[in-house]
Amino acid sequence: MRNISPSVLSADFSKIKEQIELVEEAGATRLHLDVMDGNFVPNLTFGPIIIKGINKITNMHLETHLMINNPNKYLNDYIDAGSDTLIFHYEASDNVREDLEIIRNRNVKCGLAIKPETDYRVLEQYIDILDYILIMSVSPGFGGQGFIEESLIKMKKIHQLCIKHNCRNKIKLGVDGGVNLETIDKVYSTGIDITIVGSALYGAKNVKNRFLELMSDK
Ligand code: DX5
Ligand code: ZN
Repeated sequence: MRNISPSVLSADFSKIKEQIELVEEAGATRLHLDVMDGNFVPNLTFGPIIIKGINKITNMHLETHLMINNPNKYLNDYIDAGSDTLIFHYEASDNVREDLEIIRNRNVKCGLAIKPETDYRVLEQYIDILDYILIMSVSPGFGGQGFIEESLIKMKKIHQLCIKHNCRNKIKLGVDGGVNLETIDKVYSTGIDITIVGSALYGAKNVKNRFLELMSDK
């Protein structure tokens, strides 16, 4: 079955509790939280205080996607806030393995995200420790961008890489950016596990119905 992780980036924060309940009632079991620092990406969102609040109003698995420079400095804050999976960018970290170990040692799932222009082969050296790989199919920073078609090849290659290393069952593969009714089938056909959906879900008139439409793989 498909696994969709709604991104609250496109939700209406004036009624965030209702917006989260909508997707939970529709069947979502995880929620995607986009943290942007106005530095690693040209946009700003929220930090650990908001995540702590969200953690109080839902039991869903919280996957926090850090789009920030120097993630090392803030990992513990995002873990303390209630992240169940903590993902940072390969391009932003000075010591990727050390950062992954910090997360792991606190019993939180560790994830690495790569930008569309980053070679997927950089992941190979961390495959033994990773719980999650987040493949960006847009340039990180904004919701509502167009899906980069070439990223489909990368998804297949990463899926194969995990099989080669005998760790396909251990690692979850997520795809983030531009996933909508038109692109979602292609994305799942590459072998990935989770899609992140923001604007195509929260932009819909009926969010619950849209969730079900996106889930249907006929
Ligand atoms: C983009 C974020 C995404 C974003 C996806 O930088 O990481 O999680 O919310 O939004 P859509 O689904 O609108 O592309
Ligand atoms: Zn994201």
